[in-house]
Amino acid sequence: MNESTEETTRLTVSKLEDEIVAETRLSKVDGEAGRLVIAGKSLDELAEDSTYAETALRLARAARGILADPEASDVDDFRRRLGRARSDAFEHLEDQGTFSVLRRQTDPMDALKVAISTLPGGQEHEATATMAMGMAAVASAAWCRPDAELDALRPDSQAGHAADYLRLVRGEEPEPAEVDALETYLMSVSDHGMNASTFTARVIASTESDLGSALVGAIGALKGPLHGGAPGPVLDMLDAIGSADNARDWIAERLQQGERIMGMGHRVYQVRDPRPTAFEAALSLLGEQPRTQGRLTLARAVEREAEEQLADAYPDRSLQANVEFYTAVLLEAVGLPRELFTPTFAVGRCAGWSAHYLEQRLNGRLIRPRATYVG
Ligand code: COA
Repeated sequence: MNESTEETTRLTVSKLEDEIVAETRLSKVDGEAGRLVIAGKSLDELAEDSTYAETALRLARAARGILADPEASDVDDFRRRLGRARSDAFEHLEDQGTFSVLRRQTDPMDALKVAISTLPGGQEHEATATMAMGMAAVASAAWCRPDAELDALRPDSQAGHAADYLRLVRGEEPEPAEVDALETYLMSVSDHGMNASTFTARVIASTESDLGSALVGAIGALKGPLHGGAPGPVLDMLDAIGSADNARDWIAERLQQGERIMGMGHRVYQVRDPRPTAFEAALSLLGEQPRTQGRLTLARAVEREAEEQLADAYPDRSLQANVEFYTAVLLEAVGLPRELFTPTFAVGRCAGWSAHYLEQRLNGRLIRPRATYVG
């Protein structure tokens, strides 16, 4: 921001960090223990035996106050509905002539906003929410393949969400281990307490606006580098550092210049964010791909160095790796281009945003804080 102002004194703006703004059944972020619970299951449990579709279903049920585990048949049914939603979203975007508009956007998050803003209204919430999840995957993939023959890349409604998304982006069938790694990623980022984009969605929901509007607002909030926009820059950083020997000087220089180290630090976690641990485990499933293992080794060295230097610079704070750090390594390893890292975050988070929208509509009232006038 380059705008100059006559009055240079900074105004006090609440960070809302100690304010509880809602009760929720959707997720719990325990910043002191480094633990995340999504719709009743800890991240460890989810990563072990769940899928993105199951987690999205759990969130949708929890928003309605249903906390019991879903039956396997309910999960299968939801998986099929999500597959159909991708196909319906494709037809809808094609009918509206939206694909060419998407491809003209230079930023894929803007493309995602365009696509989601076309969500048909007038359906019941669950149908719109499922369609939004399908549309996020279809639209992100379409943005990424501007020259591809779209006819060859129609969604496969029988496939799992991660598998189909990877195929739509890459134009070839992914390996099962890549699919599992992406399932883990999408599930791990499906919800995360009252983060900035979720709060945005809830504020919009509280005005009784529609789900599409809430999702467009949330996508806009996620786009920022202090929220979901960091993983691309994390990879840029790893490229610039190149080898573990350079990490110390590179980081010291950036900190001296007052820059932030992307992928480090979190408003809530006082210890390491649990999601990077889940991603590292998923990465290990990808076997001994030399490029991935090289990246992982470099990432760990950079993380160690950044953590050490940030601890020296900010002894009162605990600035450790956050979700974005290993997101970069994981999404690169499964063959997604870095421009799609933040949209892929949105593909996963659509489940949480939609559930928060519903929870707010069912339980909340207009969110309307106040400011102190000092003009
Ligand atoms: N690198 C360098 N310094 C950092 C830092 C980082 N990653 N994270 C925080 N700091 C510093 C700030 O510059 C600030 O220093 P100052 O007091 O000298 O101005 C101090 O720590 C407190 O920062 P603050 O902005 O109050 O912390 P926050 O709670 O708002 O920060 C983040 C949370 C995530 C926004 C912040 O850690 C950050 O910008 N991280 C990098 C971007 C990122 O990874 N985003 C993805 C988040 S999931």
